[in-house]
Amino acid sequence: MAPIVQTTANPIDAATRATLLENPGFGLLFGEHMVRIDYVAGEGWGPTTIVPYGPISIPPTAAVFHYAQAAFEGLKAYRLADGGVGVFRPFANARRMNSSARRLAMPELPEERFVEAIDALVTLDQGWVPNGDGQTLYLRPVMFATEEVLQVRPSSRFSFFLISSPSGSYFTGGVKPVAVWVSEEYSRAAPGGTGAAKASGNYAASLAAQLEAQEAGCDQVVWLDAIERTTIEEMGGMNLFFVFGEGADVRLVTPELTGTLLPGITRESLLQLAADLGYPVDVRRITIDEWRAGNSDGTISEVFACGTAAVITPVGHVKSRSDDFSIRGGAFGPVAARLREALLAIQTGAAPDLHGWLRIVVSAS
Ligand SMILES: Cc1ncc(COP(=O)(O)O)c(C=O)c1O
Repeated sequence: MAPIVQTTANPIDAATRATLLENPGFGLLFGEHMVRIDYVAGEGWGPTTIVPYGPISIPPTAAVFHYAQAAFEGLKAYRLADGGVGVFRPFANARRMNSSARRLAMPELPEERFVEAIDALVTLDQGWVPNGDGQTLYLRPVMFATEEVLQVRPSSRFSFFLISSPSGSYFTGGVKPVAVWVSEEYSRAAPGGTGAAKASGNYAASLAAQLEAQEAGCDQVVWLDAIERTTIEEMGGMNLFFVFGEGADVRLVTPELTGTLLPGITRESLLQLAADLGYPVDVRRITIDEWRAGNSDGTISEVFACGTAAVITPVGHVKSRSDDFSIRGGAFGPVAARLREALLAIQTGAAPDLHGWLRIVVSAS
């Protein structure tokens, strides 16, 4: 069934929209419409509706506010070189949303309905897909428990929303190496926990460490494993890659997916792109001791983080209660730059899409 669409009664005129899109920031400006799909146990998912973006009414007893039964996703629509609009790997996000849903005892939304929601919203709000350098329409699907219940048990009612946000660079100041804080006190995820899910509660639990990072002058947290606190897992919102060697001897290392870190779609795409570009990659355990030693003896030549929001961002500086060192003097490394360029070229339709990653939602006019 086609989505039921109720468009805004007060559309923003093209001139105002153009001014807003000149400098959108990240996650500050929102598209004019949103998708809503409601679920009731025993009945399943209701129709896909598109309504004007705006506040929603939820009772304070809704389970999500008490027990955080919620998960979300993040993906992007790109203005293509030919003027059309493409969305990067939406089925991969649909699959991950459902894997998060299973872990959180929430219902799965059929993948085709997830992607249909994206197609419909991006098509309707295509005027909000900016075309400036590094600008995209960030898409945020979210699912949460709405049943009015104070017992701790899975909710019988859920809502799925999809909102959009025209965005520029994730980190203020554009793409430049970030400083990271290795958290020795807090853990993000433990074995058997929700680390591999994009559970909203994971992010709530990360904020105290994020504050600690900011107080230390850093942009993001690097999480260590919860048991030995020696193995590097990931960053607050990105996966990590380590570059060993230089020139023809370059070899990449990325932490293996142990069940406690998020299986990033950018990480998975880069594993493929690295193979395409001829970089050998080891997916294995890497410790903070190996990072420190490799940095001081020069075996590690670059470290970069990857994720939907910021694509690829070099790590320029590492701090913790016991460490304080810089990588490449805080400069952008050649491997990070090459992979970033290659990935962005596919995402914006400037390079051939050999792996079928780009879903063309709006064709060139
Ligand atoms: C904790 C965490 N790790 C890694 C990532 C990167 O995942 P992706 O490449 O799918 O955006 C994200 C962002 O979604 C994240 O929140």
